[in-house]
Amino acid sequence: MRSATASRQRLAVLMAITLWSVSGLITLCAESPYRFFDWTVTYGDIYPLGVRQQGILINGQFPGPEIYSVTNDNIVVNVRNNLPEPFLLSWNGVQMRKNSYEDGVYGTTCPIPPGKNFTYNFQMKDQIGSFFYFPSLAFHKAAGGYGAIRILSRPLIPVPFPEPAGDFTVLIGDWYEANHKVMKAVLDGGHRLGFPDGILINGRGPTGASFTVDKGKTYRLRISNVGLQHSLNFRVQGHLMKLVEVEGTHTIQASYSSIDVHVGQSYSVLITMDQPAQDYYIAVSTRFTTKILTSTAVLHYSNSIRPVSGPVPCGPTTEIGWSINQARSIRTNLTASGPRPNPQGSYHYGQINVTRTINLVSSAGLINQKQRYGVNGVSFVPAADNTPLKIADYFGIPGIFRVGSIPDSPSSRQLVLDTAVMGADYRTFVEIVFENLESIVQSWHLDGYNFWVVGMDGGRWTPASRKQYNLADAISRCTTQVYPRSWTAIYIALDNVGMWNLRTEFWARQYLGQQFYLRVFTPVKSLRDEFSIPANALVCGKAANRLLI
Ligand SMILES: *[C@@H]1O[C@H](CO)[C@@H](O)[C@H](O)[C@H]1NC(C)=O
Ligand SMILES: *[C@@H]1O[C@H](CO)[C@@H](O)[C@H](O)[C@H]1NC(C)=O
Ligand SMILES: *[C@@H]1O[C@H](CO)[C@@H](O)[C@H](O)[C@H]1NC(C)=O
Repeated sequence: MRSATASRQRLAVLMAITLWSVSGLITLCAESPYRFFDWTVTYGDIYPLGVRQQGILINGQFPGPEIYSVTNDNIVVNVRNNLPEPFLLSWNGVQMRKNSYEDGVYGTTCPIPPGKNFTYNFQMKDQIGSFFYFPSLAFHKAAGGYGAIRILSRPLIPVPFPEPAGDFTVLIGDWYEANHKVMKAVLDGGHRLGFPDGILINGRGPTGASFTVDKGKTYRLRISNVGLQHSLNFRVQGHLMKLVEVEGTHTIQASYSSIDVHVGQSYSVLITMDQPAQDYYIAVSTRFTTKILTSTAVLHYSNSIRPVSGPVPCGPTTEIGWSINQARSIRTNLTASGPRPNPQGSYHYGQINVTRTINLVSSAGLINQKQRYGVNGVSFVPAADNTPLKIADYFGIPGIFRVGSIPDSPSSRQLVLDTAVMGADYRTFVEIVFENLESIVQSWHLDGYNFWVVGMDGGRWTPASRKQYNLADAISRCTTQVYPRSWTAIYIALDNVGMWNLRTEFWARQYLGQQFYLRVFTPVKSLRDEFSIPANALVCGKAANRLLI
């Protein structure tokens, strides 16, 4: 009798849970709207530095149109490739949860053939923040084809600052006057690229862009470094910037007179127009270079009585120390909401035991008399027939890649070419230590994830370096810099099954092999952990004759 009651109760509970989760699912779908984008990619003339260049345009625009979205929105981007060569877009910082097929890099997605289209379907699942998209194949990024992505908080989720009077996208990056195909040929020939010719701000050269503001009001600027290599310093004459967001994390709102933005990174700042009504310089210049390139834009007060005047504000002159101190001061506001109403700090990353430490060191060398770059002694090359690794994994096509083809720590052997894939178990908690033995700043990005930047310092990393980790309020982001002859340590919760690109954002090196794929794997196949291959997925390479069902 008792046991019958108990089992009836269990059944009732079970039914309630089932009903709750089914209705939860329905509500979730019902409240996540779809946003549709129809994009055509073409070559077209652009003149960012005053000379005519072949640029990659999206719907005729350079930079491309912005993806404007809200947390959990479903994004549908139909990309028609009207270039005479294969093309892919990737979504820097969008986590593509359970959905690496849509990531748009060589290892996950077949290229869109010339004259064909592919419709990307993904969700801005549990994300907020400022990011960008870019063309991932060949050396297309040097021709443009990039644009901003913004993910706003849902209407009822509190944002830790008053609604700004305006919200500007500021895409900055170094730029070459050379045609991207010429640059690609230089790299293919085993040579290095020279110094860039200028810096672009929203696709405009040294004195192009202008932002109009009202005196007394506060504006948000979303700054992303979409360039090919150089760290850039960003500043506004006569105004302080209050940092509020870094790659989807609300920060401690500290004020800065200038901010270093390393290649691939995104920052949001608030600026209050509290100065006399005139025009002011916005200045962007290269960091840690002997020759300094600077571009300016104009901050125009709507009631301005004077054009820009006075010297362009100088960037920081002290080198690494200033920048590393600034980087350490950028922390998570633990009481601010992220994409969900519960404060992000309720996730105590500092109390989770690390299950694995991966040590990554940049490698460089000549292979067949040509310059190559790598990680831990392996320089990445695509697999046979360019079959995407994720697609090969799905169909079980052998001989495409080998899990473990890149070691967890640097090797002393000579640089080798391989289709480097590192295996990792789903739901493990991993520490990655990037060690930079060079005299340039490095910038590393991981697709599919945000990670906590727990520490960075000069010199070599040792296990004792862990004592200085920030285990309370480190910033959570997707791209981190590693200073010259320094290290940066990150923690990652591997909660996103898939094939994820880990790469340098120094684009010539990325192109010459400084990248690999992290295959976050679970032996149990379940739609709860990973979505199925999309019905419209293109097939190519050794998967070309496979049918999707
Ligand atoms: C190409 O676009 C059409 C709609 O115009 C769409 O139905 C189709 O799925 C797209 N192709 C791919 C491979 O996504
Ligand atoms: C952190 O966020 C809270 C909640 O929105 C806000 O009130 C507070 O000012 C923020 N603190 C800092 C130091 O930025
Ligand atoms: C972490 O490891 C320590 C020592 O091995 C152990 O005592 C502790 O319970 C572990 N914590 C968690 C959260 O697993």
